[in-house]
Amino acid sequence: MSKLEVTPEHIYQERRRFIGHSSLWIAAAGLGGWLPQQVFGKPNPAYAVDDPSRPLTSEKLATSYNNFYEFSLEKDGPKDLVDKWTVKSPWTVEVTGLVEQKKTYKLEELMEMAGPTEERVYRFRCVEAWSMVVPWTGFELSKLIAKLKPKSTAKYVAFTSHANPNDFPNIKKMPYYPWPYTEGLTMAEAQHPLAMIATGLYGKPLPKQNGAPLRLVVPWKYGFKSIKSIVKIEFTDQEPKTLWNQLAPKEYGFYANVNPEVDHPRWSQATERVLDGKIFPTRIKTLKFNGYEKEVSSLYAGIDLKKFY
Ligand code: MTE
Repeated sequence: MSKLEVTPEHIYQERRRFIGHSSLWIAAAGLGGWLPQQVFGKPNPAYAVDDPSRPLTSEKLATSYNNFYEFSLEKDGPKDLVDKWTVKSPWTVEVTGLVEQKKTYKLEELMEMAGPTEERVYRFRCVEAWSMVVPWTGFELSKLIAKLKPKSTAKYVAFTSHANPNDFPNIKKMPYYPWPYTEGLTMAEAQHPLAMIATGLYGKPLPKQNGAPLRLVVPWKYGFKSIKSIVKIEFTDQEPKTLWNQLAPKEYGFYANVNPEVDHPRWSQATERVLDGKIFPTRIKTLKFNGYEKEVSSLYAGIDLKKFY
């Protein structure tokens, strides 16, 4: 990877400003449907990573070094295997459980309910100790939740990924995995302003290998919580079962908050390898809650994070 493939943030932001103008132009020309709105969400300056030691990851790397186990266990596998998967249109998401607006929605309907999309630059830290900094386009999950009107008895939100074995080769190859991929958050976590549903990346619709057409992004938690290609959202009073927790409960807890003080049983979580394309990647100290401590620590007041990992 040459240095040139890593776009410094200021150049990226310049490009975004230009794109922002073109989106206005498209809307003014009467061509603006949900797609331009989805793709050109305006950058929200309140969610930037103002840290010179954390430049934006190159788009090429973020879209070719992936964890999408339904396709492959190899990082470079998903991008080469996605072509055989035609993302259904309209894409639908079943909303069920302890919620008033129970229904199977088209993605467009959910986006309409959540309001305009925006772009946020977040740190993203995988449990495997690599990390990136990427610009997501999408909406705050809390805005959608408010419209869906969960009942007061709902304590958690459970998410399920698309799991058609004809679309995802590894589901057939590894039938002993507890597919579909599932994840969950407490209601308080799901309603936190940082929790996002992403429909785009680098100002473009979400690439298939990154979880098209919609995925969760929870930047203070390990990347495995950020479930891809969502088809079901369920409000429940029981802690949801998650794929990783079922496979290896001692290694992957329900909370999975980024925490340099709690090691994975097989490796340290004190530092992380920055995805910068270098032969000897930069290693930096991992920050508690992935640098979002100020924003989210109150969610865990009085909770023993070693026990609830
Ligand atoms: N969602 C599904 N459905 N399947 C997966 O294998 N991997 C998770 C998460 N969401 C995964 C998933 C893990 S381990 C990580 S680190 C992130 O997606 C990776 O997201 P990225 O490929 O966009 O970087």
